[in-house]
Amino acid sequence: MKRTPMIAGNWKMFKTGPEAVQTALRLVAGCRDVTDVDIMIAPAFVALSLVAQIVKNTPVRLGAQNLYFEKQGAFTGEISADMLKAAGAAYVIIGHSERRQHFFETDEAVCKKIRAAVTANLTPILCVGETEAQRDQEKTFLTLDKQVSDGLQGFGPDEIKDLILAYEPVWAIGTGKSASVAQVKEVHQYLRSLLEKRFSPDLAQTIRILYGGSVKPENIADLMRIEDVDGALVGGASLDADTFTKIIKFDTIL
Ligand code: 13P
Repeated sequence: MKRTPMIAGNWKMFKTGPEAVQTALRLVAGCRDVTDVDIMIAPAFVALSLVAQIVKNTPVRLGAQNLYFEKQGAFTGEISADMLKAAGAAYVIIGHSERRQHFFETDEAVCKKIRAAVTANLTPILCVGETEAQRDQEKTFLTLDKQVSDGLQGFGPDEIKDLILAYEPVWAIGTGKSASVAQVKEVHQYLRSLLEKRFSPDLAQTIRILYGGSVKPENIADLMRIEDVDGALVGGASLDADTFTKIIKFDTIL
């Protein structure tokens, strides 16, 4: 089954609006000719509308880094799925390990957020991944099983056919230490079999599974050669437009 590769950039809490615009302009210029890879960038909330203007009618799509699951109401400081959609976002990252770790996001909240995204017609990117301690205790699969099963509790396969899964081992994020090809291969295979078991063989073949954690131009080609890797969710290396463009054009170095 051929799945279109996706290279997504998570800009985290970096770049003001004007800085995001500058990077987006450079990225768009570098990626004008890309047709075979889905490209996404997720700037901070306040930069979304600005960057939306820049990426309009280009191959670059816009994503948000989080949302709140309620439709609207007295939730000071929060952002709804409809607000993201209206700002120009097509994707939303949900359950990133930094949100789980620093903002105590539970699988239950993640599940509600995915429901809100799907309802608003935003494509969710569900992030899962084990900590170093969980890996050392051989609880990697157990952790991922719980994150996927609880995060997608109550969904039918049709509702999540566009969902994207991102495997981001916590110990590989921002450390410069990417997971090895063998580790990524093993986990992505496991995740696909989990989707098959929990949902359906069709869904397991359709869903794209991205790898995230210290992805850079030097290791993207090796990662993309792995059968069950359908792309990458890139943090640090997506902040520089030229570096990110090299990652997006991984097939020229394959
Ligand atoms: P780094 O690429 O900086 O390791 O971050 C990965 C990540 O968290 C993407 O969501």
